[in-house]
Amino acid sequence: MKILAISGSLRASSSNTAILMAVRELAPSSSEIKLFDGLDLLPHFNPDRETESIPSLEYFREEIKKCDAVLICSPEYAHGIPGTLKNALDWVVGSGELIGKPIGIINATPMYEGRNFAQESLVEILQTMSAVVLPENTLAITKVKSKLDSDGKVIDLKLAQELTNLIISLIKLVK
Ligand SMILES: Cc1cc2nc3c(=O)[nH]c(=O)nc-3n(C[C@H](O)[C@H](O)[C@H](O)COP(=O)(O)O)c2cc1C
Repeated sequence: MKILAISGSLRASSSNTAILMAVRELAPSSSEIKLFDGLDLLPHFNPDRETESIPSLEYFREEIKKCDAVLICSPEYAHGIPGTLKNALDWVVGSGELIGKPIGIINATPMYEGRNFAQESLVEILQTMSAVVLPENTLAITKVKSKLDSDGKVIDLKLAQELTNLIISLIKLVK
């Protein structure tokens, strides 16, 4: 069971990336969670270049093809998803690697409860791309900074349980 984890944040000390690392620790040992680290190497999306041989793009497409499911954890930027993440997704609309692929979606924010525009948008985008997104495989995390320690480890037991439930549910969906 291979799961490709994609963080929507390029920050070195990103809380969204930290959440993905935490899920890697919490997931059953039968699953392999690989963090994709090439989001910022992809060129700007240009439909004229979709069939060009671009190594960073070929790597991205191959990594999606090889995995059984994708887990995205992303911040919200100005009530939308980060441009780097949308850029990456645009590159696989036409080539179709995400069609029928089960996807887990997590959004982590240091803010308090409120409308989660980025998650709503990400669900809409991925469903439009014919990926499989179920409500039980989505999670919105508020006040994330209080739930992680200085090493990025999850210290909130409720959050640890929610992350475990999400990854088990995603694995069940694949099976
Ligand atoms: C340009 C920018 C826009 C932001 N807009 C929002 C927003 O609309 N909603 C929100 O909850 N947080 C917003 N934030 C705060 C991010 O949620 C916060 O910086 C978060 O820690 C980023 O995730 P990361 O730690 O994984 O990098 C914004 C941050 C930046 C840098």
